Amino acid sequence: MKSVILSIDTDKRKSHIRREIYGHFSEHLGRCIYNGMYVGENSEIENIGGVRKDVIEALKNIRIPVLRWPGGCFADEYHWKDGIGEKSARKKMINTNWGHVVEDNSFGTHEFMDLCEELDCEPYVAGNMGSGTVQELSEWVEYMTFDGVSPMAELRRKNGREKPWKLKYLGIGNESWGCGGSMRPEYYADEYRRYQSFCKNFSGNELFKVACGPNADDYNWTEVVMSNLNEWHTKAISLHYYTIPTGDWSHKGAATEFSDREYYSTISKTLYMEELVTKHSEIMDRHDPDHKIGLIVDEWGCWYDVEEGTNPGFLYQQNAMRDAVVAAINLNIFNEHSDRVIMANIAQVVNVLQAVILTEGERMLLTPTYHVFDMYKGHQDSELLCSELAGFDTGCEDIGVPALSKSVSVDKDGNILITMSNCSLDESVKVTAELGGFVPAKYTARLLTAEARAYNDFDNAENVVPAEFNSVVLNGSTAEFEMPPCSVISVRLSK
Ligand code: AHR
Repeated sequence: MKSVILSIDTDKRKSHIRREIYGHFSEHLGRCIYNGMYVGENSEIENIGGVRKDVIEALKNIRIPVLRWPGGCFADEYHWKDGIGEKSARKKMINTNWGHVVEDNSFGTHEFMDLCEELDCEPYVAGNMGSGTVQELSEWVEYMTFDGVSPMAELRRKNGREKPWKLKYLGIGNESWGCGGSMRPEYYADEYRRYQSFCKNFSGNELFKVACGPNADDYNWTEVVMSNLNEWHTKAISLHYYTIPTGDWSHKGAATEFSDREYYSTISKTLYMEELVTKHSEIMDRHDPDHKIGLIVDEWGCWYDVEEGTNPGFLYQQNAMRDAVVAAINLNIFNEHSDRVIMANIAQVVNVLQAVILTEGERMLLTPTYHVFDMYKGHQDSELLCSELAGFDTGCEDIGVPALSKSVSVDKDGNILITMSNCSLDESVKVTAELGGFVPAKYTARLLTAEARAYNDFDNAENVVPAEFNSVVLNGSTAEFEMPPCSVISVRLSK
């Protein structure tokens, strides 16, 4: 067994970990909305406003802070007026990005905004810049947020909602460098400036506008967009990066059947997020030294080949212990960069890509990734502490990766939360956390560990679940615990 020291400066707060880092993303894609979250009011499955009650409860449990919608690529072909009013009269359209299936628009603005109110989370609406108009977007904002007399506010009232909703996060264009219009960054920045000018603050609602940022390592996009936008135009730019085990879009690798080499390749490609966030932040630092513009990683997660027998356009994949480690690493990276990373949204919330929830008919299960969000939720709105870890490398053949990842925060009541992952497939590690002047009197801890390929299915939904961990040894200002191979731990220390 390896031994490592995690040294924590309990007096040195680095940055605020905004709860939005623990955000989610829901797109009109496959079974994310329809036959996933949304089953309709007349369904036999218990629901609130058509959304499954079990899904709502599960998301409340992890304190979902923000939900992005309606896309993704879908956002830039979505025309919001098709999704309001009497359901039977709503237009049917083709979902050209995702399987060319019929989109009947039964889940629209009211259903989404009401869901966010029910979840007590911030809505993050992705506006259509690619195939929409400035007027369409500007009217959407008016429809959702204006309390006075206006055509859009009247239309909203006619559709049954007297008072406006609160809308903070508004994205303008999704992947405008790709499915959102194949724009050059120079053109996008100009168009963004025009669109955002007509998205107004109404009735005390204050928009937090988000510009489309780079695809993975497109540093030129960040450079150009940051040169052309300032904090009056935008409060954040986005970044999209997916972990693809093989690095090859035509053969990405399977969700539950993979070699050890593919496992370590997945970890290595996940760790690339650290480099991406660091380098994009460096560019942002040059243009915005006062950090008035945030970085939002509004699409991240593992992207595998779809499960056999499922529609290739639906992006349905299983979720194994490997995904839990990937989630833990990414969330630790975002925490550590919370001076610049102000939000992140895992793709996607239900039944699509690295989902936290899977459904099948009446049944629902929580994935290993879900459990990581649960174990990490104490970081939400806490302060990141300075911490150093002298770790070790692991891997196989030609791939070497650091075995451990960590982040440490302190909450408003002075409790310290340590979260760590050990990605090694064969090495256990004893961690000694040195806590400076902090002498904990008690702790609670949870450990998630399983074979990397283990997963939860509908017949065995509790195969991979966290267990209470009672083996933390407190000794003055140190806390010691052991992590088995392929594991994630959360340790909460209190005085
Ligand atoms: O999350 C799936 C897709 O990935 C989104 O629609 C798009 O934005 C990205 O390419």
